[in-house]
Amino acid sequence: MSRVIIIGAGLSGLSAAITLAKAGRRSALVSLQPSERAQSVLAEGGINAALDTMGENDSADEHFNDTMRGGVFLASEAAVRALTSHAPETVMWLSSLGVPFNMKDGKIIQRNFGGQKKKRTAFAKSSTGKMIMTSLIDEARKYEDKGLIERFAHHEFIRLIIDNGECVGAVVRDRYSGKSAGISGVVLLACGGMNGIFPEMTTGTTQNSGDAAATAFVQGVTLSNTEMLQYHPTTIGISGKRCLVTEAARGEGGRLYIMRGDERYYFMEDRFPDLKNLSPRDVVAREMFFVRREFGGEVFLDMTGLDEEVWKSKLPDLREEIKSYLSIDPKDTPVPVKEGIHYFMGGIYTDINHRTSMQGLYASGECTSLYHGANRLGGNSMLGAVYGGRAAAEDIVKNTADDGKNDEISFAIDDAGNFGEPASDELILKIRDILLDAMGIVRNESTLDNALERLDRLSAERGYNDRENARFAVARAMLMSAKERRESRGAHYREDFPERDDSFKKATVAQYKNGKVSITFKALDERGEENADKT
Ligand code: FUM
Repeated sequence: MSRVIIIGAGLSGLSAAITLAKAGRRSALVSLQPSERAQSVLAEGGINAALDTMGENDSADEHFNDTMRGGVFLASEAAVRALTSHAPETVMWLSSLGVPFNMKDGKIIQRNFGGQKKKRTAFAKSSTGKMIMTSLIDEARKYEDKGLIERFAHHEFIRLIIDNGECVGAVVRDRYSGKSAGISGVVLLACGGMNGIFPEMTTGTTQNSGDAAATAFVQGVTLSNTEMLQYHPTTIGISGKRCLVTEAARGEGGRLYIMRGDERYYFMEDRFPDLKNLSPRDVVAREMFFVRREFGGEVFLDMTGLDEEVWKSKLPDLREEIKSYLSIDPKDTPVPVKEGIHYFMGGIYTDINHRTSMQGLYASGECTSLYHGANRLGGNSMLGAVYGGRAAAEDIVKNTADDGKNDEISFAIDDAGNFGEPASDELILKIRDILLDAMGIVRNESTLDNALERLDRLSAERGYNDRENARFAVARAMLMSAKERRESRGAHYREDFPERDDSFKKATVAQYKNGKVSITFKALDERGEENADKT
């Protein structure tokens, strides 16, 4: 084995590459876009860690409990324990790299985020992702200079190279020359969420197409919890996507209401008196759906009570975005908001050390399903991505060898062969529409069955290329997992099974074999125990 091949140069991929480089391991950092344009730069609100800088007696234990409760106990306890106990050092590491977190008296300030009573979210105004990425990019450059990190920006993952069931490398294609190369080594997929399955309906970039995870799936890699789509409560529709109105707006005092007759009804405050507007996202999004059904009309986010200083020092970009996209100043006028797909709790199944079901293949960041169970807490995404990338890299350093071969990478193959052709836009939209009809905030068996039948009919219409077939397979995995989970838990709400049923306190596991998708359930503790001497 020589280089570690990292697919994706966002938060998780960069964190992994830096960790590998520090241990003297080389990596090839492959990405469609340069890091500066990764999805991670869009992350606004912040990153969670029980730093306890706000005098509230916060602790890693409370962070653990909130994360488990927020995910409705579907995440592996060992994984969440590792994530939350390493959160403070993860944030301090970022701070040491120069991330300009908001500070007071030499301490990082933290703010409220959903599903957590303590102020636990560290932030850099309202562009935390951009700031963290800038620091990681700078840090990575030091190792690029030493030849330990080789950048392959504008390159596309095509497929895994598999020998005897083991992943031994990846085929990647240079998007400028169109030529491909097979690179050998351990592979880490850090390719982000499956936004490209839901164009125009997500807050994320469709550059994160989902094709990498879908390809790995049909090549034999296990997925899990793919029914768990996170709808963020406060998004606005602009030019072909959902634009995020950060949860930090509610963390700083923003309130949701709907018109009930002539009065503003602040329904979260009335119906969820404990966490109110900062209830977990699945709860808020579902209630918005219900109050719209009950009263009609739109839900508004009222930020008119926020004072000038909060806008200036904590949410400046948000105010400017709303002004420029909606031509209203949120300081004076409530903003109409709607739920939008924001995050994929499901994805590539990994154990607690980020190993997938295929030897030689790791996964970290949003493309995995590990830390967030049935619903992710705001602020745990960047934490999971950075910590996960580092944890995966450490396991790679410990358990795989570098043979020291200086094998040249030669972009000489003219035809990427299997999986090289993109999916057609027309098909992407058709699959999206079928999924949206059944995988909304409220689901039931008959709409899921109907969607599966429509998918079967569509797939029988003509021959499809490999990536198109991989999309069909992932869409089936989502629908079948949603059908098999006959309970309501977190982001998965079944009106025909509205209660949580702990006989389903297991991960759904999707496998692809001989052209067929199958779904089974796996106990949560099968992901293993924490590696004691991790960072
Ligand atoms: O609302 C937000 O700022 C989103 C943060 C997150 O998803 O972690």
